[in-house]
Amino acid sequence: MRTWATGKRPHRHRALGAALLLLAASAAAAGTSAPAAAGGEAAGAARNVILLIGDGMGDSEITLARNYTVGAGGRLHLDRFPMTGSYTTYAVDKDGRPDYVTDSAASATGWATGHKTVNGRISKTPDTDRPLPTLLELARNNGLSTGSVTTAELTDATPAALVAHVADRSCQGPADMRDCPGDTRERGGAGSIAEQSVAHDVDVLLGGGRQRFDQTVTEGPDRGRTVTELALRRGHRIVTDARELAAARPGRPVLGLFAPETLPLEWTGAPAVQGGTAPQRCVTAGPGRSAGTPDLETMTRQALRLLERPGRAGKGFFLQVEGASIDKTDHDADPCGQIGETVAFDRAVRAARDYAAGHPGTLVVATADHGHSSQIVPLAARPAGLSSTLITDEGGLMKVGYGTHAGEEGQEHSGVQVRIAAQGPLARRVLGVTDQTELFTTIRTALALR
Ligand code: CO
Ligand code: CO
Repeated sequence: MRTWATGKRPHRHRALGAALLLLAASAAAAGTSAPAAAGGEAAGAARNVILLIGDGMGDSEITLARNYTVGAGGRLHLDRFPMTGSYTTYAVDKDGRPDYVTDSAASATGWATGHKTVNGRISKTPDTDRPLPTLLELARNNGLSTGSVTTAELTDATPAALVAHVADRSCQGPADMRDCPGDTRERGGAGSIAEQSVAHDVDVLLGGGRQRFDQTVTEGPDRGRTVTELALRRGHRIVTDARELAAARPGRPVLGLFAPETLPLEWTGAPAVQGGTAPQRCVTAGPGRSAGTPDLETMTRQALRLLERPGRAGKGFFLQVEGASIDKTDHDADPCGQIGETVAFDRAVRAARDYAAGHPGTLVVATADHGHSSQIVPLAARPAGLSSTLITDEGGLMKVGYGTHAGEEGQEHSGVQVRIAAQGPLARRVLGVTDQTELFTTIRTALALR
């Protein structure tokens, strides 16, 4: 129905197409509903895509956050999408055989490129280590604005998979290249994840990991400069707190580096222990958080403001938003930390849905990259692993068990399918059971990326 917007329309319809495009653009600007924009199924039906990834946010993690905050009978923003399905997330080995539990790098490569790869690899093939084009690269090449937001380091696996191609996720800064010999500048490679992130001139990159960007390049033409200096030379605006972010204007790339490493946690509490904790309430003002540190919702709203780029009728944006520390606190068997991060992610979902309500033609997808270890178990259960009992906001007792690892090394991911929920053009494609590589195709088709 909206095939005229795909760029593949027949010649004789070009004038009509242009007129309709103008009409759609002005309707969108006025905040009114463009025809077919809300539920369109055709290629190119979406003007914008907002993809939200809760790292390690399986059904257990969602249910824990729901029970603790709005209650067992309540609903999170995450729960309010009209279309909900499940997708599989397994990785592969170098011969293409399934590796049933993925890490964030292989998983992000799956949705960002449409190809499965080996654990640890960032947007490169499992066998021959060749780069695979990503959604963000395709969006940028097609003239869309692009953005990526995370509570982790910007060089961490999920944001990295959109803007970098390296053999191993550990190659985050110029000083971290040990496991990526073929990607070094000296060998003619594209360098570390930080260098590649900057080289993409992404319109909006917001997160942590300032220490990676402050590392000095030691090889190649940029030798002797830090990655931060390279960004400045390319005309990027670097912001380091919420006030500077709010003052940033569209027109040149904005690189937000709000912490040396991962952003501080939202909530804290006692971690789970062998034999269980006494019933506890979570502390909802995390240490190290201040008004200067933007939370995920603030970063999302600011990214959307910067990506709007008035005057670019017909060209929208692709934005990725990651709630990264759901995963990190799950690894630490820290139920309060985990719930706080999930709630913060849920507020970012609300920001995305608010935007979509005013901008028809926006496909919003919220999903996870893999399941994790936390489980809601009966109060009488005596888990073999670590556990903690929480007193929820509705006054209930909720026991959380972590049983994927017996040792002190931390908990592990799980290989379960995870939720994928969506609204807007092509949202229907998330229904049923799909694989995460199909999300790549859905977004590519929705934006008619070539
Ligand atoms: Co992950
Ligand atoms: Co993890």
